[in-house]
Amino acid sequence: MKTVAILGSTGSIGVNTLAVAEQFRDELRVVGLSTNKNIDVLRQQVRKFSPSSVAVLDERAGREFEREMRGITRVFVGPQGIEEFAVADGADIVLNALVGFAGLRPTMRAIECGIDIALANKETLVVAGAIIRPLLAKHGARLLPVDSEHSAIFQCLVGEEPSSVRRLMLTASGGPFRLLSVDAFGAITIEQALNHPNWKMGKKVTIDSATLMNKGLEVHEAHWLFDLPGKRIDVVVHPQSVVHSMVEFSDGSVKAQLGVTDMKLPIVYALLYPKRAATTGGRLTIDHMRELTFDVPDLAKFPCLQIAYDALEIGGTAPAVLNAANEIAVDAFLNGSIRFVDIPHIVSGVLADHSTSVATFENIVHADSDARRIAMEIVATRPLV
Ligand SMILES: NC(=O)c1ccc[n+]([C@@H]2O[C@H](COP(=O)([O-])OP(=O)(O)OC[C@H]3O[C@@H](n4cnc5c(N)ncnc54)[C@H](OP(=O)(O)O)[C@@H]3O)[C@@H](O)[C@H]2O)c1
Repeated sequence: MKTVAILGSTGSIGVNTLAVAEQFRDELRVVGLSTNKNIDVLRQQVRKFSPSSVAVLDERAGREFEREMRGITRVFVGPQGIEEFAVADGADIVLNALVGFAGLRPTMRAIECGIDIALANKETLVVAGAIIRPLLAKHGARLLPVDSEHSAIFQCLVGEEPSSVRRLMLTASGGPFRLLSVDAFGAITIEQALNHPNWKMGKKVTIDSATLMNKGLEVHEAHWLFDLPGKRIDVVVHPQSVVHSMVEFSDGSVKAQLGVTDMKLPIVYALLYPKRAATTGGRLTIDHMRELTFDVPDLAKFPCLQIAYDALEIGGTAPAVLNAANEIAVDAFLNGSIRFVDIPHIVSGVLADHSTSVATFENIVHADSDARRIAMEIVATRPLV
Protein backbone atom coordinates (compact mmCIF):
# COMPACT_ATOMS: atom_id res chain seq x y z
CA MET A 1 0.00 0.00 0.00
CA LYS A 2 1.41 3.38 -1.04
CA THR A 3 0.36 6.48 0.92
CA VAL A 4 -0.24 9.67 -1.03
CA ALA A 5 -0.73 13.32 -0.05
CA ILE A 6 -2.29 15.61 -2.65
CA LEU A 7 -1.40 19.28 -2.92
CA GLY A 8 -4.40 20.95 -4.58
CA SER A 9 -6.90 18.09 -4.26
CA THR A 10 -9.88 20.31 -5.13
CA GLY A 11 -8.57 21.25 -8.59
CA SER A 12 -8.75 19.47 -11.92
CA ILE A 13 -5.67 17.25 -11.44
CA GLY A 14 -6.49 16.78 -7.74
CA VAL A 15 -9.97 15.47 -8.50
CA ASN A 16 -8.60 13.14 -11.18
CA THR A 17 -6.02 11.88 -8.69
CA LEU A 18 -8.75 11.05 -6.18
CA ALA A 19 -10.64 9.17 -8.90
CA VAL A 20 -7.45 7.14 -9.44
CA ALA A 21 -7.07 6.57 -5.68
CA GLU A 22 -10.65 5.33 -5.56
CA GLN A 23 -10.09 2.91 -8.42
CA PHE A 24 -6.85 1.62 -6.87
CA ARG A 25 -7.96 1.62 -3.24
CA ASP A 26 -6.06 -1.61 -2.56
CA GLU A 27 -2.80 0.03 -3.63
CA LEU A 28 -3.16 3.72 -2.75
CA ARG A 29 -4.22 5.30 0.53
CA VAL A 30 -4.87 9.05 0.65
CA VAL A 31 -3.33 10.58 3.79
CA GLY A 32 -3.42 14.28 2.92
CA LEU A 33 -5.63 16.72 0.98
CA SER A 34 -5.45 20.47 0.44
CA THR A 35 -7.24 23.44 -1.07
CA ASN A 36 -6.88 27.15 -1.48
CA LYS A 37 -10.42 27.90 -0.23
CA ASN A 38 -12.77 25.37 -1.79
CA ILE A 39 -14.08 24.08 1.55
CA ASP A 40 -17.26 22.48 0.18
CA VAL A 41 -15.33 20.16 -2.11
CA LEU A 42 -12.65 19.51 0.52
CA ARG A 43 -15.33 18.52 3.06
CA GLN A 44 -16.76 15.92 0.66
CA GLN A 45 -13.25 14.61 -0.05
CA VAL A 46 -12.52 14.29 3.69
CA ARG A 47 -15.74 12.32 4.17
CA LYS A 48 -14.86 9.95 1.35
CA PHE A 49 -11.11 9.44 1.91
CA SER A 50 -10.63 10.06 5.68
CA PRO A 51 -7.14 11.60 5.36
CA SER A 52 -5.09 12.09 8.54
CA SER A 53 -4.24 15.70 7.58
CA VAL A 54 -5.63 18.43 5.37
CA ALA A 55 -4.51 21.98 4.63
CA VAL A 56 -6.35 25.16 3.67
CA LEU A 57 -4.43 28.16 2.33
CA ASP A 58 -7.12 30.72 3.16
CA GLU A 59 -6.65 31.61 6.85
CA ARG A 60 -10.26 32.43 7.69
CA ALA A 61 -11.81 29.46 5.90
CA GLY A 62 -9.04 27.26 7.32
CA ARG A 63 -9.66 28.27 10.96
CA GLU A 64 -13.40 27.63 10.60
CA PHE A 65 -12.73 24.26 8.99
CA GLU A 66 -10.30 23.41 11.77
CA ARG A 67 -13.09 23.88 14.33
CA GLU A 68 -15.51 21.84 12.23
CA MET A 69 -13.00 18.98 11.78
CA ARG A 70 -11.95 18.71 15.43
CA GLY A 71 -11.64 15.01 16.27
CA ILE A 72 -12.03 14.04 12.60
CA THR A 73 -8.84 15.17 10.87
CA ARG A 74 -5.91 17.48 11.56
CA VAL A 75 -6.24 20.83 9.73
CA PHE A 76 -3.18 22.89 8.78
CA VAL A 77 -3.73 26.51 7.77
CA GLY A 78 -1.93 29.12 5.64
CA PRO A 79 1.13 28.85 3.37
CA GLN A 80 3.13 27.12 6.12
CA GLY A 81 0.27 24.64 6.55
CA ILE A 82 0.34 23.82 2.82
CA GLU A 83 4.06 22.99 3.19
CA GLU A 84 3.63 20.96 6.36
CA PHE A 85 0.49 18.82 5.96
CA ALA A 86 1.96 16.89 3.03
CA VAL A 87 4.94 15.67 5.04
CA ALA A 88 3.17 15.35 8.40
CA ASP A 89 2.15 11.72 8.00
CA GLY A 90 5.20 10.36 6.19
CA ALA A 91 3.47 9.94 2.82
CA ASP A 92 5.30 7.72 0.33
CA ILE A 93 4.53 10.13 -2.48
CA VAL A 94 3.25 13.71 -2.73
CA LEU A 95 1.27 14.61 -5.81
CA ASN A 96 1.71 18.31 -6.46
CA ALA A 97 -1.27 19.74 -8.35
CA LEU A 98 -0.94 23.34 -7.18
CA VAL A 99 -0.91 26.16 -9.72
CA GLY A 100 2.09 28.42 -10.28
CA PHE A 101 4.98 29.50 -8.07
CA ALA A 102 2.99 28.44 -4.98
CA GLY A 103 4.01 24.86 -5.76
CA LEU A 104 7.72 25.43 -5.25
CA ARG A 105 8.16 25.48 -1.46
CA PRO A 106 5.89 22.47 -0.74
CA THR A 107 7.82 20.49 -3.39
CA MET A 108 11.14 21.40 -1.79
CA ARG A 109 9.83 20.55 1.68
CA ALA A 110 8.67 17.09 0.57
CA ILE A 111 11.95 16.37 -1.24
CA GLU A 112 13.89 17.44 1.86
CA CYS A 113 11.94 14.76 3.74
CA GLY A 114 13.03 12.20 1.12
CA ILE A 115 9.49 11.87 -0.27
CA ASP A 116 8.91 11.13 -3.97
CA ILE A 117 7.04 13.75 -5.96
CA ALA A 118 4.47 13.17 -8.69
CA LEU A 119 4.66 16.56 -10.36
CA ALA A 120 1.81 18.22 -12.22
CA ASN A 121 2.87 21.69 -11.07
CA LYS A 122 5.29 22.37 -13.95
CA GLU A 123 5.99 25.91 -12.70
CA THR A 124 8.13 24.41 -9.91
CA LEU A 125 10.65 23.13 -12.45
CA VAL A 126 10.39 26.22 -14.65
CA VAL A 127 11.41 28.57 -11.87
CA ALA A 128 13.72 26.34 -9.84
CA GLY A 129 14.82 23.30 -11.85
CA ALA A 130 18.41 24.23 -11.00
CA ILE A 131 17.62 23.83 -7.29
CA ILE A 132 15.26 20.87 -7.49
CA ARG A 133 17.62 18.56 -9.36
CA PRO A 134 20.47 18.62 -6.82
CA LEU A 135 17.94 18.53 -3.98
CA LEU A 136 16.46 15.28 -5.35
CA ALA A 137 19.93 13.76 -5.58
CA LYS A 138 20.85 14.89 -2.07
CA HIS A 139 17.73 13.44 -0.42
CA GLY A 140 17.31 10.36 -2.61
CA ALA A 141 13.81 11.35 -3.75
CA ARG A 142 12.36 10.77 -7.22
CA LEU A 143 10.39 13.14 -9.40
CA LEU A 144 7.75 11.47 -11.57
CA PRO A 145 6.09 13.56 -14.27
CA VAL A 146 2.31 13.91 -14.37
CA ASP A 147 2.08 16.27 -17.34
CA SER A 148 0.92 13.98 -20.16
CA GLU A 149 3.73 15.04 -22.54
CA HIS A 150 6.46 14.41 -20.00
CA SER A 151 4.88 11.16 -18.88
CA ALA A 152 4.92 10.12 -22.55
CA ILE A 153 8.63 10.90 -22.86
CA PHE A 154 9.34 9.22 -19.52
CA GLN A 155 7.58 6.10 -20.81
CA CYS A 156 9.45 6.22 -24.16
CA LEU A 157 12.75 6.34 -22.28
CA VAL A 158 12.20 3.15 -20.29
CA GLY A 159 15.11 0.82 -21.10
CA GLU A 160 16.98 3.43 -23.18
CA GLU A 161 20.43 4.93 -22.62
CA PRO A 162 20.08 8.67 -21.91
CA SER A 163 23.07 9.28 -24.21
CA SER A 164 21.13 7.78 -27.16
CA VAL A 165 18.44 10.50 -27.04
CA ARG A 166 18.84 12.97 -29.90
CA ARG A 167 15.72 15.08 -29.64
CA LEU A 168 12.42 15.36 -27.80
CA MET A 169 9.21 16.27 -29.60
CA LEU A 170 6.56 17.74 -27.32
CA THR A 171 3.17 17.63 -28.96
CA ALA A 172 0.78 20.57 -28.62
CA SER A 173 -2.90 20.60 -29.51
CA GLY A 174 -2.48 24.19 -30.72
CA GLY A 175 -5.32 25.33 -28.44
CA PRO A 176 -8.59 27.01 -29.44
CA PHE A 177 -6.97 29.63 -31.71
CA ARG A 178 -4.83 27.43 -33.93
CA LEU A 179 -6.94 28.22 -37.00
CA LEU A 180 -7.98 31.75 -36.05
CA SER A 181 -6.55 34.53 -38.20
CA VAL A 182 -4.05 36.67 -36.33
CA ASP A 183 -6.16 39.75 -37.24
CA ALA A 184 -8.93 38.39 -34.99
CA PHE A 185 -6.68 37.88 -31.94
CA GLY A 186 -7.40 41.39 -30.60
CA ALA A 187 -11.04 40.45 -30.02
CA ILE A 188 -10.52 37.11 -28.23
CA THR A 189 -12.82 36.83 -25.20
CA ILE A 190 -12.19 35.11 -21.86
CA GLU A 191 -14.88 32.51 -22.66
CA GLN A 192 -13.27 31.68 -26.01
CA ALA A 193 -9.82 31.35 -24.43
CA LEU A 194 -11.21 29.05 -21.71
CA ASN A 195 -12.78 26.76 -24.30
CA HIS A 196 -9.98 24.25 -24.91
CA PRO A 197 -10.76 21.82 -27.74
CA ASN A 198 -9.31 18.63 -26.16
CA TRP A 199 -8.68 18.99 -22.42
CA LYS A 200 -10.78 20.13 -19.44
CA MET A 201 -8.35 21.79 -17.03
CA GLY A 202 -7.98 24.58 -14.47
CA LYS A 203 -8.23 28.18 -15.75
CA LYS A 204 -4.56 29.13 -15.60
CA VAL A 205 -3.27 26.16 -17.60
CA THR A 206 -6.17 26.57 -20.07
CA ILE A 207 -5.18 30.17 -20.83
CA ASP A 208 -1.52 29.10 -21.03
CA SER A 209 -2.59 26.48 -23.57
CA ALA A 210 -4.37 29.11 -25.64
CA THR A 211 -1.27 31.38 -25.77
CA LEU A 212 1.07 28.36 -26.14
CA MET A 213 2.94 29.60 -23.06
CA ASN A 214 1.99 26.24 -21.58
CA LYS A 215 4.10 24.52 -24.23
CA GLY A 216 6.93 26.95 -23.53
CA LEU A 217 6.76 26.09 -19.81
CA GLU A 218 6.74 22.42 -20.80
CA VAL A 219 9.95 22.92 -22.80
CA HIS A 220 11.56 24.16 -19.55
CA GLU A 221 10.05 21.24 -17.65
CA ALA A 222 11.44 18.76 -20.22
CA HIS A 223 14.84 20.45 -20.04
CA TRP A 224 15.07 19.83 -16.28
CA LEU A 225 13.48 16.39 -16.30
CA PHE A 226 15.46 14.92 -19.19
CA ASP A 227 18.61 17.03 -19.14
CA LEU A 228 18.53 18.31 -22.73
CA PRO A 229 19.04 21.88 -23.97
CA GLY A 230 16.11 23.83 -25.42
CA LYS A 231 17.42 23.49 -28.96
CA ARG A 232 16.95 19.71 -28.73
CA ILE A 233 13.36 20.04 -27.53
CA ASP A 234 10.95 20.71 -30.40
CA VAL A 235 7.28 21.56 -30.24
CA VAL A 236 5.03 19.81 -32.77
CA VAL A 237 1.44 20.91 -33.29
CA HIS A 238 -0.78 17.83 -33.22
CA PRO A 239 -4.44 18.90 -32.89
CA GLN A 240 -5.80 15.41 -32.19
CA SER A 241 -3.79 15.04 -28.92
CA VAL A 242 -3.46 11.29 -29.51
CA VAL A 243 0.34 11.20 -29.63
CA HIS A 244 1.30 12.61 -26.24
CA SER A 245 4.95 13.20 -27.20
CA MET A 246 7.88 11.54 -28.99
CA VAL A 247 11.58 10.85 -28.58
CA GLU A 248 14.06 10.61 -31.43
CA PHE A 249 17.10 8.41 -30.77
CA SER A 250 20.62 8.45 -32.22
CA ASP A 251 19.76 5.81 -34.86
CA GLY A 252 16.88 7.91 -36.21
CA SER A 253 14.19 5.77 -34.56
CA VAL A 254 11.32 7.70 -33.04
CA LYS A 255 9.29 6.34 -30.14
CA ALA A 256 5.91 7.82 -29.30
CA GLN A 257 3.37 7.22 -26.56
CA LEU A 258 -0.29 7.35 -27.61
CA GLY A 259 -3.48 7.33 -25.61
CA VAL A 260 -6.86 8.92 -25.05
CA THR A 261 -7.00 12.43 -23.59
CA ASP A 262 -7.47 11.44 -19.97
CA MET A 263 -5.15 12.79 -17.27
CA LYS A 264 -5.87 9.74 -15.12
CA LEU A 265 -3.49 7.79 -17.37
CA PRO A 266 -0.30 9.75 -16.55
CA ILE A 267 -1.47 10.11 -12.92
CA VAL A 268 -1.75 6.32 -12.49
CA TYR A 269 1.62 5.83 -14.17
CA ALA A 270 3.30 8.32 -11.81
CA LEU A 271 1.63 7.01 -8.65
CA LEU A 272 2.13 3.31 -9.28
CA TYR A 273 5.44 3.53 -11.20
CA PRO A 274 7.13 1.27 -12.24
CA LYS A 275 3.99 -0.88 -12.33
CA ARG A 276 1.67 -0.60 -15.33
CA ALA A 277 -1.81 -0.80 -13.87
CA ALA A 278 -4.94 -2.27 -15.42
CA THR A 279 -7.24 0.76 -15.73
CA THR A 280 -10.88 0.88 -16.69
CA GLY A 281 -10.68 4.19 -18.57
CA GLY A 282 -11.27 4.89 -22.27
CA ARG A 283 -9.25 3.02 -24.90
CA LEU A 284 -7.74 4.29 -28.11
CA THR A 285 -9.69 3.08 -31.16
CA ILE A 286 -9.15 3.37 -34.89
CA ASP A 287 -11.61 6.29 -34.87
CA HIS A 288 -9.18 8.31 -32.74
CA MET A 289 -6.29 7.44 -35.06
CA ARG A 290 -7.83 7.74 -38.54
CA GLU A 291 -6.29 11.14 -39.07
CA LEU A 292 -3.18 12.18 -37.14
CA THR A 293 -1.59 15.43 -38.32
CA PHE A 294 1.62 17.19 -37.29
CA ASP A 295 2.76 20.73 -37.98
CA VAL A 296 5.21 23.39 -36.83
CA PRO A 297 3.93 26.04 -34.39
CA ASP A 298 3.19 29.53 -35.74
CA LEU A 299 5.49 31.69 -33.60
CA ALA A 300 4.14 34.95 -35.07
CA LYS A 301 0.66 34.06 -33.82
CA PHE A 302 1.91 32.58 -30.54
CA PRO A 303 4.92 34.68 -29.44
CA CYS A 304 4.79 33.27 -25.87
CA LEU A 305 6.41 30.06 -27.09
CA GLN A 306 9.47 31.88 -28.46
CA ILE A 307 9.65 34.07 -25.34
CA ALA A 308 9.80 30.90 -23.22
CA TYR A 309 12.58 29.40 -25.37
CA ASP A 310 14.52 32.68 -25.04
CA ALA A 311 14.15 32.70 -21.23
CA LEU A 312 15.44 29.13 -21.06
CA GLU A 313 18.45 30.12 -23.14
CA ILE A 314 19.17 33.11 -20.85
CA GLY A 315 18.84 30.86 -17.80
CA GLY A 316 19.49 31.85 -14.16
CA THR A 317 16.55 33.80 -12.77
CA ALA A 318 15.05 34.62 -16.22
CA PRO A 319 12.65 31.62 -16.20
CA ALA A 320 11.34 32.70 -12.76
CA VAL A 321 10.65 36.14 -14.23
CA LEU A 322 8.96 34.61 -17.27
CA ASN A 323 6.72 32.57 -14.99
CA ALA A 324 5.87 35.39 -12.58
CA ALA A 325 5.05 37.89 -15.34
CA ASN A 326 2.93 35.27 -17.06
CA GLU A 327 1.00 34.46 -13.85
CA ILE A 328 0.17 38.15 -13.40
CA ALA A 329 -0.73 38.63 -17.08
CA VAL A 330 -3.00 35.56 -17.11
CA ASP A 331 -4.74 36.74 -13.92
CA ALA A 332 -5.19 40.19 -15.45
CA PHE A 333 -6.69 38.69 -18.61
CA LEU A 334 -9.03 36.49 -16.56
CA ASN A 335 -10.27 39.44 -14.53
CA GLY A 336 -10.85 41.52 -17.65
CA SER A 337 -8.03 44.07 -17.13
CA ILE A 338 -6.11 43.26 -20.32
CA ARG A 339 -6.65 41.67 -23.71
CA PHE A 340 -5.44 38.23 -24.76
CA VAL A 341 -2.84 39.79 -27.09
CA ASP A 342 -1.40 41.84 -24.21
CA ILE A 343 -0.16 38.73 -22.40
CA PRO A 344 3.04 38.26 -24.48
CA HIS A 345 3.76 42.00 -24.41
CA ILE A 346 3.67 42.06 -20.62
CA VAL A 347 5.83 38.96 -20.27
CA SER A 348 8.46 40.13 -22.77
CA GLY A 349 8.43 43.65 -21.28
CA VAL A 350 9.15 42.36 -17.77
CA LEU A 351 11.84 39.98 -19.06
CA ALA A 352 13.54 42.78 -21.00
CA ASP A 353 13.87 44.78 -17.75
CA HIS A 354 15.46 41.91 -15.84
CA SER A 355 19.19 41.36 -15.40
CA THR A 356 19.51 37.68 -14.76
CA SER A 357 21.44 36.29 -11.81
CA VAL A 358 22.38 32.81 -10.59
CA ALA A 359 19.35 30.66 -9.73
CA THR A 360 19.76 30.41 -5.94
CA PHE A 361 16.58 30.11 -3.88
CA GLU A 362 16.94 33.68 -2.56
CA ASN A 363 17.55 35.12 -6.04
CA ILE A 364 14.56 33.23 -7.44
CA VAL A 365 12.21 34.47 -4.71
CA HIS A 366 13.49 38.00 -5.23
CA ALA A 367 13.20 37.81 -9.04
CA ASP A 368 9.69 36.39 -8.70
CA SER A 369 8.43 39.18 -6.46
CA ASP A 370 10.13 41.92 -8.51
CA ALA A 371 8.66 40.55 -11.73
CA ARG A 372 5.18 40.39 -10.20
CA ARG A 373 5.43 44.01 -9.06
CA ILE A 374 6.64 45.22 -12.48
CA ALA A 375 4.02 43.19 -14.34
CA MET A 376 1.28 44.63 -12.11
CA GLU A 377 2.57 48.14 -12.78
CA ILE A 378 2.44 47.50 -16.52
CA VAL A 379 -1.08 46.12 -16.22
CA ALA A 380 -2.17 49.14 -14.18
CA THR A 381 -0.49 51.98 -16.02
CA ARG A 382 0.67 51.19 -19.52
CA PRO A 383 -1.60 51.74 -22.49
CA LEU A 384 -1.44 48.28 -23.99
CA VAL A 385 -0.77 47.62 -27.66
N1 LIG B 1 -5.60 20.21 -15.42
C1 LIG B 1 -4.87 19.46 -16.22
O1 LIG B 1 -5.39 18.62 -16.97
C2 LIG B 1 -3.37 19.61 -16.23
C3 LIG B 1 -2.62 18.88 -17.15
C4 LIG B 1 -1.23 18.96 -17.09
C5 LIG B 1 -0.61 19.75 -16.16
N2 LIG B 1 -1.37 20.48 -15.30
C6 LIG B 1 -0.68 21.32 -14.30
O2 LIG B 1 -1.13 20.92 -13.01
C7 LIG B 1 -1.19 22.04 -12.12
C8 LIG B 1 -2.60 22.11 -11.56
O3 LIG B 1 -3.50 22.37 -12.62
P1 LIG B 1 -5.08 22.26 -12.43
O4 LIG B 1 -5.64 22.43 -13.79
O5 LIG B 1 -5.43 21.04 -11.64
O6 LIG B 1 -5.37 23.57 -11.56
P2 LIG B 1 -6.70 23.95 -10.76
O7 LIG B 1 -7.86 23.18 -11.28
O8 LIG B 1 -6.79 25.43 -10.77
O9 LIG B 1 -6.42 23.41 -9.27
C9 LIG B 1 -5.42 23.98 -8.45
C10 LIG B 1 -5.52 23.42 -7.04
O10 LIG B 1 -4.57 24.09 -6.19
C11 LIG B 1 -5.26 24.89 -5.19
N3 LIG B 1 -4.53 26.15 -5.12
C12 LIG B 1 -4.49 27.13 -6.05
N4 LIG B 1 -3.64 28.11 -5.69
C13 LIG B 1 -3.11 27.73 -4.51
C14 LIG B 1 -2.15 28.31 -3.61
N5 LIG B 1 -1.59 29.50 -3.85
N6 LIG B 1 -1.84 27.63 -2.48
C15 LIG B 1 -2.43 26.45 -2.21
N7 LIG B 1 -3.36 25.85 -3.00
C16 LIG B 1 -3.68 26.49 -4.14
C17 LIG B 1 -6.67 25.03 -5.70
O11 LIG B 1 -7.61 25.26 -4.64
P3 LIG B 1 -9.07 25.89 -4.97
O12 LIG B 1 -9.90 24.72 -5.44
O13 LIG B 1 -9.54 26.49 -3.71
O14 LIG B 1 -8.88 26.92 -6.06
C18 LIG B 1 -6.86 23.66 -6.37
O15 LIG B 1 -7.04 22.67 -5.39
C19 LIG B 1 -0.77 23.24 -12.95
O16 LIG B 1 0.59 23.50 -12.77
C20 LIG B 1 -1.02 22.79 -14.40
O17 LIG B 1 -0.15 23.44 -15.33
C21 LIG B 1 -2.72 20.43 -15.31
